[in-house]
Amino acid sequence: MSAATRPGRLVIAVDGPAASGKGTLARRLAVHYGLPYLDTGLLYRMVARAMLDAGHDIHDAIAAEQVVNSFDETAFPEERLRGREIGEAASVVAAMPAVRAGLLTRQRRFAAQAGGAVLDGRDIGTVICPEAPAKLFVTATPEVRAARRHKELVGRGEAVTLDGILADIRRRDARDSGRSDAPLKAAEDAVVLDTSALTVEEAASAAIGIVEGRRAA
Ligand code: CDP
Repeated sequence: MSAATRPGRLVIAVDGPAASGKGTLARRLAVHYGLPYLDTGLLYRMVARAMLDAGHDIHDAIAAEQVVNSFDETAFPEERLRGREIGEAASVVAAMPAVRAGLLTRQRRFAAQAGGAVLDGRDIGTVICPEAPAKLFVTATPEVRAARRHKELVGRGEAVTLDGILADIRRRDARDSGRSDAPLKAAEDAVVLDTSALTVEEAASAAIGIVEGRRAA
């Protein structure tokens, strides 16, 4: 029996495109089920931050491989990871196979905790935890996602326009879905949750309903 399916443990995989609301939902699920939570996007953002801090070209795959095998996860306060520039840079390094391979073990180790875990990202249901019993693919229209991300970045004091953010979202969708290694896509056994017209409360109760359905199955 694998770690993901051991009785009494629950692994929840939450995937989806940029600003789909997956992080908010994953956090809510973690609180609801009393499980530890990992935002795997932050790991890619840390690699990107470490690359930029060291003055490397973000497209330099050799430097990225060195960084991913040596960076200190505790060295980056979250506010240094959430900016627009870092989201973009993270999706560049995330397309590099050596970066994905370098981050795989720590994600699997997190998912293997005794009671289980909630992880969110792009490839949790397909690559990191393919045996997770509960998988959600959270999505929303590009326009809705752009409006959410715009509000978040303006709240952080960034000078951004809605059109600029919509262009970022479309570019990131294309890069994340088009890469050859672990592209963004719903696992065959994932349940798709479109949050375009849902409030956070509505989306959270739909997400819990999906997990409960999977646990009962
Ligand atoms: O919050 P947002 O959805 O904008 O981004 P994120 O989840 O923090 O991820 C930033 C970038 O990291 C994404 O655009 C992906 O390219 C990459 N990523 C990934 O490839 N695989 C993951 N499991 C998580 C993030």
